[in-house]
Amino acid sequence: MPIKSKDIITTVDLPKGDVDEILRQSEVMLDYLKSGKVPELLKGSILATLFFEPSTRTRLSFTSAMLRLGGSVLGFSSEEGTSVKKGESLEDTVRMADSYSDVIVIRHPETGSAKRAAHVARKPVINGGDGPDHHPTQGLMDLFTIKREKGLRNVNVALCGDLRYGRTTHSLIYLLAMYGLGINLVSPPSLRMPDEIISDVKKAYGAEIKEFRTLQEVVTEVDVLYVTRIQKERFLDISDYGNLEGSYRVDKKLLKKAKEGLIVMHPLPRVNEISTEVDSTPFAKYFDHAAYGVPVRMALLSLLLGKI
Ligand code: CP
Repeated sequence: MPIKSKDIITTVDLPKGDVDEILRQSEVMLDYLKSGKVPELLKGSILATLFFEPSTRTRLSFTSAMLRLGGSVLGFSSEEGTSVKKGESLEDTVRMADSYSDVIVIRHPETGSAKRAAHVARKPVINGGDGPDHHPTQGLMDLFTIKREKGLRNVNVALCGDLRYGRTTHSLIYLLAMYGLGINLVSPPSLRMPDEIISDVKKAYGAEIKEFRTLQEVVTEVDVLYVTRIQKERFLDISDYGNLEGSYRVDKKLLKKAKEGLIVMHPLPRVNEISTEVDSTPFAKYFDHAAYGVPVRMALLSLLLGKI
């Protein structure tokens, strides 16, 4: 089934054929960007960006992707200034965007919000992050970065930090399993990957998943250290956050023990999980990683709108 007109809500039931095609077309888009000659594939199309939560990368890279391809963008970056402040529902807000645009990206603090949006929209809906649940386009650009930096064979990945609330890791773990990459989870006990996700990934892909408490246990073994921020905004009791802040910090001292060729990735924003002293080392791939958001989202928008 073609990707055209699909909703992209999670990576849980994304067919591997679709992911292969998105990766392939992302390479094509990257080549266009490098050549400075990007065809106006999306001229006349409009993207709506409905962001009820803060964002730098997701909103701006979707905007850049649409503009690079000759399309236009409308939307908002917070509910301030929208009729949500007057009590309008998520569904009615989405219905309006649906009639003003051709494709919608939504970020919202509630789990299931993107699915609710897709339920009322006729146009394709892309989940740009629904609370702590999923962030599928981040997972796709994570996978694209791993493919470009390390390939997709015999690669051992550690997902580190806040695996309980970190929605990017919830999306990425399914894609790692889909491609048979090694999966290691590193977190404090209170921020473990939810058991239902671990068992679902094992059941769907027969994946072997190892769990660790410290970065020191994996840094000598893995090819990719995927570091995440402690999601302060998801904590019910802020004192819990204070107890965890600063754990799982990646610095030059830790990386002295790294496996040859290890790369450090991060969906960003970082707070203090990666020392800035790492930025100038060959380990640091997190800024390249963020830049890949544009070609991956160019590919996805073009596929969803049936232009490639
Ligand atoms: N990685 C990511 O989703 O970044 P933003 O929150 O800045 O969009």
